[in-house]
Amino acid sequence: MIKLYRFGRPFATEAVVEALAPQPAETLPYFSVQNDGCGFSCELGKETAVYGLGEAIRGMNKRGWIYKSNCADDPSHTEGKHSLYGAHNFLLIAREKPFGVFFDYPGELIFDIGYTEMNTLQVSTKEANLDVYIIDGDGLEDIVRQFRRLIGRSYIAPKWAFGYGQSRWSYYSEDEVREVVRQHRENHIPLDMVYLDIDYMERYKDFTVNKKTFPQFQEFVQEMRQQNIHLVPIIDAGVKIEKDYSVYEEGVQNGYFCKKADGSPFVGAVWPGKSHFPDFLNQKVREWFGKKYAFLLRQGIDGFWNDMNEPAVFYSEDGLKNTFSELKKLEGQNLDMDKVNHFRGLVNDLSNNPEDYKSFYHNCDGKMVRHDKVHNLYGYNMTRAAGEVFEKLEPDKRILMFSRSSYIGMHRFGGIWTGDNCSWWRHLLLEIQMMPSLNMCGFLYAGADIGGFGDDTTADLLLRWTAFGIFTPLMRNHSALGTRKQEAYRFPEAMPALKKLIGIRYALLPYLYSEYMKAALRGNLYFRPLAFVYPQDKQAAEVEDQLMLGDELMLVPVYTQNASGRTVYLPEDMKLVQMRSVSDFTVETMEKGYHYVPAALDEVVFFIRSDRLIPLSYGGECVSQVDFNHLRLLGNVQTAATYQYYNDDGSSKDYENPAHFAEITMSADSRVSAKGDMCLQLESAL
Ligand code: GLC
Repeated sequence: MIKLYRFGRPFATEAVVEALAPQPAETLPYFSVQNDGCGFSCELGKETAVYGLGEAIRGMNKRGWIYKSNCADDPSHTEGKHSLYGAHNFLLIAREKPFGVFFDYPGELIFDIGYTEMNTLQVSTKEANLDVYIIDGDGLEDIVRQFRRLIGRSYIAPKWAFGYGQSRWSYYSEDEVREVVRQHRENHIPLDMVYLDIDYMERYKDFTVNKKTFPQFQEFVQEMRQQNIHLVPIIDAGVKIEKDYSVYEEGVQNGYFCKKADGSPFVGAVWPGKSHFPDFLNQKVREWFGKKYAFLLRQGIDGFWNDMNEPAVFYSEDGLKNTFSELKKLEGQNLDMDKVNHFRGLVNDLSNNPEDYKSFYHNCDGKMVRHDKVHNLYGYNMTRAAGEVFEKLEPDKRILMFSRSSYIGMHRFGGIWTGDNCSWWRHLLLEIQMMPSLNMCGFLYAGADIGGFGDDTTADLLLRWTAFGIFTPLMRNHSALGTRKQEAYRFPEAMPALKKLIGIRYALLPYLYSEYMKAALRGNLYFRPLAFVYPQDKQAAEVEDQLMLGDELMLVPVYTQNASGRTVYLPEDMKLVQMRSVSDFTVETMEKGYHYVPAALDEVVFFIRSDRLIPLSYGGECVSQVDFNHLRLLGNVQTAATYQYYNDDGSSKDYENPAHFAEITMSADSRVSAKGDMCLQLESAL
């Protein structure tokens, strides 16, 4: 049961797709309201866990910290931070009678979850204009399902985008990309995508291609497709200010960029230097910018990643001017501690400065809305711009799209990657903890930069990260300019194992894709914390480093340096699977309780629940080589197991067709059968 309580006059974020009649604000349950509707507080029992918040730092249970919804381009994802790139204002309060709450508010919002007072949740906004949705239901999963229905179906990526992708800031030329592909193909490391970072463009101008380094782009895209590789270019939010650059010229002529109070377009710098920022909150601008993607679609491109859309601003024209004049005043002075801090602050505060976000406006149906009041909607609407146009240009084709910044609502138009993490063990754990929270907020097509983006990776970290990454819908290895190169083939000692681990992803694809599709179509979680599946089990509730995947698997990733295994908690008897390759694995039944499980660097270790089975393929070096009809079944069958299998062509959008579902069963003596229209060939893998 979902109820809406409306405070003041909220901005229409279009996060939700169902219109509900608002209840009187003063009848809002669970919270007491302060500050005329800018403060909400709720007492938490000592043991009440709080889940949600999507992309955020710290654990799955968010208690004990203060989080700020304020989409931020901050590459330092440490525990002391409060904001990352997304703003996902949905919480689940896991009391005895649990409830969900969504604060639909596009500006800065603070979630103080037991930080100021250990047993109190306090939520505060700048203005008392917001919609609060309260969701009651039968348990945490039911509440999530209702919420997901409210916000609309999650984005569905093409099947090829469930393959492995290789990225780097940057591959500078056609030849460099060819070499990456050659290395993968010759070494039999599976691969479906190569990402093109900012340097494929001509001086970082959106919707251009550098003619010197990518001289035959259209032919090159085709050449790659013949090798089963999809090229996925990046698109940035800022548009370079340059005379005769058509995107800039058209934007200025039509007034499509965000404007300052005096009506002139706001100037901020990003990769190309001084830029303007399309007013994505305006429907006309979305249509205009969305259509620009056709420049690349026409050349055979069928996937994109949208970046710098918080929006990131290195400096504003006005901010830079002020800074230089302030710096001048310090020239020749003896800088003591305070002055040197002031000096440093002047330069550091140039980027993503809150004052800059207050200095420009959006034209929302003729009404000028100051950016900071709707800041968290910018990345969402950039991705929506593309998604809405794709729907018109290619109504029956899935196009890969994911974004860095997001707000709930964007999950209908694309996935996300979790931005500029680092090659740190702690960031592998952070990803593990973030994935179920993202799923709760509708973001299913998600993943982190495998191996870590910033800093230098190591072979063992890359192996462990890959062993977890094989389960995330978006599986991409990406790294920053200036860091150690981290393609699998750069590590001769680790490469044989990396290749096999990535191969396991392709073996698992029938299961992973089926689980993804069911999660999208039914509003289920793809990844769940253990507490969601075993709500009565107090030990399970405290597990922060294991995940349930679908209804069948429990993942137990290794995320610490120099570990040769890890301790796991089993809330019930399960079967341990230690997989070294598509065809090389061992299984062992383990009892409920704590166990130490050895896990070598070249192994994937996971558990299958009792009376469950998963379908596996025979693998492949790209998704189109994987046979989704010829399956091996890996089961933990005591009496009988049934699996509902989903499969489709992976490119069209006829998702709900009953012919896409089959029921596969396995009996205790490993006999297998299937019901449904699919022509399946089944064997037991054991
Ligand atoms: C941003 C992105 C990163 C990309 C870089 C250059 O930092 O988050 O993924 O590589 O910009 O485009």
